Amino acid sequence: MRRLPLLVLPAVLAVALVLGFFVWRTGDALPGFVTASGTAAVGGPFTLVDQDGRRRASASFAGRYMLIYFGYSYCPDVCPTTLSLMGDALSKVGPKAGRIVPIFITIDPERDTPRQLKTYMRAFGPQFVGLTGDLAAIRTVAAAYRVYFRKQPLAQGGYGMDHSNVIYLMGPDGKFLAYWDDTAIGPDALAAALREKT
Ligand code: NI
Repeated sequence: MRRLPLLVLPAVLAVALVLGFFVWRTGDALPGFVTASGTAAVGGPFTLVDQDGRRRASASFAGRYMLIYFGYSYCPDVCPTTLSLMGDALSKVGPKAGRIVPIFITIDPERDTPRQLKTYMRAFGPQFVGLTGDLAAIRTVAAAYRVYFRKQPLAQGGYGMDHSNVIYLMGPDGKFLAYWDDTAIGPDALAAALREKT
């Protein structure tokens, strides 16, 4: 194991070179790499079920911006914090907020039934749409948004979900506009970004 550092250093240098290349190519920080292209293959049509048990196709949001977050209602910390962040940001956006729909898509459809989401979404505001579906539909929409999720058994029984923590903004045409790391942005900065991009 003593030789490990000798192997680690070249690996670190290689990663740094690759990251440096992307920053140089785009003239921006890494998150800009996706937003800069404008045609990044993120997102796609979906048909899911909302918290009132109605089928909701992505087309039903046409003409409005979708602010989308994937998570699960049993999430102990990150998901509620992020949904609060989205709600806070929208309350600071101003008149443009009326065209932005905050959407929570569960990656735990086993427990996040429409009824469960109905109770859960209430905590974050009446404008929130909670979406669920069968596992196949959730897998498809998660893959389209490059969202990772995995069931994680808990020591005390039951399970949690590992999942990506990304907020997406999709345009009125359903096309990808921007994304944010939910742990790296506050409500004021998110509100300012939403005003600028909508
Ligand atoms: Ni979560």
